[in-house]
Amino acid sequence: MRIDIATLFPDMCEAVLSESIIGRARKAGHIEIHCHNIRNYTLDKHKRVDDKAYGGGTGMVMQPQPIHSCIMHIKEELGETEKAPRLIYLSPQGRVLTQQVVKELAAESNLILLCGHYEGVDQRVLDELEFEEISVGDFVVTGGELPALMLTDAVARMQQGVLPNEDAYSIESHYNGLLEHPQYSRPEEWMGRRVPEVLLSGHHANIKKWQEEMALEITAKKRPDLLKKQQLISDMSSD
Ligand SMILES: C[S@@+](CC[C@H](N)C(=O)[O-])C[C@H]1O[C@@H](n2cnc3c(N)ncnc32)[C@H](O)[C@@H]1O
Repeated sequence: MRIDIATLFPDMCEAVLSESIIGRARKAGHIEIHCHNIRNYTLDKHKRVDDKAYGGGTGMVMQPQPIHSCIMHIKEELGETEKAPRLIYLSPQGRVLTQQVVKELAAESNLILLCGHYEGVDQRVLDELEFEEISVGDFVVTGGELPALMLTDAVARMQQGVLPNEDAYSIESHYNGLLEHPQYSRPEEWMGRRVPEVLLSGHHANIKKWQEEMALEITAKKRPDLLKKQQLISDMSSD
């Protein structure tokens, strides 16, 4: 899979994506990620990429030309692909990113992510290139970089070879609509708190049963809305 990120702050993205699990996965060739500086594509002689908003307002708006040229350059670099790349503008107005959306995006071969900044992006370039919009939640951050990095990390860790095996992401919170059971490591006792006995028993079937029960219990306690959603899905599929 290849992910291209169009941003005014490529160093910020590279800094995060060169570290830890994703950094190693890139080096090993399990995922290809490129960060592109939108400013390199402006035709303005002063290298401007933003201007005042028509209609007034406090912030600046990212102009359409540099974004359009940057995205066209990425598309040219990709060449003929079997399936058109998904063009995603990270936006607080978009479809909210969930593990289900991550699964859907992880099955693609090419994603092009656009990070806005300041007051946002001129609507015309979003319409012209037919961007879909994805949000990381109902709040506003200063730029699309952190949201793009979250999306990239979530999608990258589902690619083959990035994590040791499929269990590493499938037996985790949200993958199947539940939260994960609690985790414990050594020592067996810490500050008078013991690791649950079943985890020390070596009895795999009992451990699995305990983990499943705990997942249900924890979901009911922390996120009862998720259980209700599961119930609705199973009601709908049995109708
Ligand atoms: C300050 S925000 C602009 C918000 C815009 N004026 C609005 O009210 O919808 C600047 C940029 O940050 C990014 N951004 C902010 N919040 C986001 C969120 N919740 N999810 C994804 N991207 C977000 C977008 O790329 C956006 O263009």
